[in-house]
Amino acid sequence: MTEIKTIKKIEHINTAVDYFKNEIDEGLSSIKKSLPSKYFYDKKGDALFVKIMHLPEYYVTRSEHEIFRTKSQSIIEALHLNPNTYFELIELGAGDGLKTKELLRELNRLHYKFDYMPVDISKNALESLEKDLNKEMPSLSIKTKQGDYFEVLESLNENHNSKVILFLGSNIGNMSDDVATDFMSKLSANLQNKDKLLLGVDLIKPASIVLPAYNDSQGITAAFNLNLLQRINKELGANFDLKFFKHQAEYKESDGIAKSFLVSTKAQQVYITKINKNFSFHEGEKILTEISRKYNDEILNSILSKTDFIIKNRITDSKVYFANYILERK
Ligand code: AVJ
Repeated sequence: MTEIKTIKKIEHINTAVDYFKNEIDEGLSSIKKSLPSKYFYDKKGDALFVKIMHLPEYYVTRSEHEIFRTKSQSIIEALHLNPNTYFELIELGAGDGLKTKELLRELNRLHYKFDYMPVDISKNALESLEKDLNKEMPSLSIKTKQGDYFEVLESLNENHNSKVILFLGSNIGNMSDDVATDFMSKLSANLQNKDKLLLGVDLIKPASIVLPAYNDSQGITAAFNLNLLQRINKELGANFDLKFFKHQAEYKESDGIAKSFLVSTKAQQVYITKINKNFSFHEGEKILTEISRKYNDEILNSILSKTDFIIKNRITDSKVYFANYILERK
């Protein structure tokens, strides 16, 4: 008689909270402490970011919005789209879609055949975007996808439909130049020759303009930054006392990278239950929570030179604060 044995499988499925935990542990255990900026965007973080986009000091969204509001036609022309050939319009990090809506309206008006496929890390953001678009443009076909940018790269070559990738809002600015190079290489490797990328980047400009954008007078950006500690408290059972950390923004035009920190205002220890570890901070110790890289043609070209992409076109706002680059494969 054969004995039927139950095989107990030990499953190691890494859940989102495992990744979160490991990345927080890694960031706070290194000599120069850091936390990944992608974790800003929980429900409260999403809401604070919407407020940031409307701040008088935060020129980034307004400048790119101006390009989409006044130059959607030029964008469509520069993308060389054929109104009768189906394409996928894939947006990486769609957010609230404010700028994209301008383009969607124009594409709709001109009867282009496409599906709009927004990708975002935030489920909240995707759901409200879909609802909003369904209301305003009922004929628009929307296919949402929740996930990390890097995760979706591989799914791009699952079919050979023509693709236009939107990577707007200077979201690439959160990547170091090495990560951006890796990302752009992988992106181009997963595209076909006829596909296009519309890349929105904040341009290098004086600190007198950039710094207030990351340290606004109402303290919204400070609250956005500190919310990351609140999130760790909630989701990983930590005891960060937000009174003893302060937001700090730094920027030098010569390196073109805005940096956000949380600074410990006293010597203190923080315990994180789900990591089962204490973390010590000395007075004045900084946690790097975000980099926001600013670009110019030279910096972008030096990144692209290590990839298959080339710059085909560049569209800017009236103040030349922001640029939307059209990239193609070599
Ligand atoms: C969404 C990454 C473009 O870096 O300007 C705004 C995020 N951080 N204020 C940026 C952000 C603080 C923003 N990006």
